[in-house]
Amino acid sequence: MLLAVKDVQKVSNMEMNMLHEEEIEIINAFHDAAVAKDIEKVDEIFKAVEFDVEDHFSTEEQMMEESGFFAAGIHKAEHDTMRKKIKNLKENWDRDKDPKAIQHFLEDEFKHWIVLHVARWDSETAMALGDSM
Ligand SMILES: [Fe+2]
Ligand SMILES: [Fe+2]
Repeated sequence: MLLAVKDVQKVSNMEMNMLHEEEIEIINAFHDAAVAKDIEKVDEIFKAVEFDVEDHFSTEEQMMEESGFFAAGIHKAEHDTMRKKIKNLKENWDRDKDPKAIQHFLEDEFKHWIVLHVARWDSETAMALGDSM
């Protein structure tokens, strides 16, 4: 398991917490498939990861837009950086089918990114939004 639910901080907005829990579940399944070097499974879960990450980011961006959160631009820029990294990872995967590259990305980059991103940007955004959604 790459991430336990408790590794990612709870924020003061329930919808965001739900998005994070869903993402942890999918990312763990993705990591399991990469560690098991199950090419077919990685292929299959990669589609779910792309869909889920986009749903997570765009839902938060819409919430920020609706509430006029002052740092929406910086928060979105952090999402865009991760969007690019995942797009890049997918291009490499389609070319090389190397599960080790997925495993390294998840362990060395994504895990730390999500923990820090939620602690820094999502928690502050959630505080500004409250739980009115
Ligand atoms: Fe988030
Ligand atoms: Fe975020």
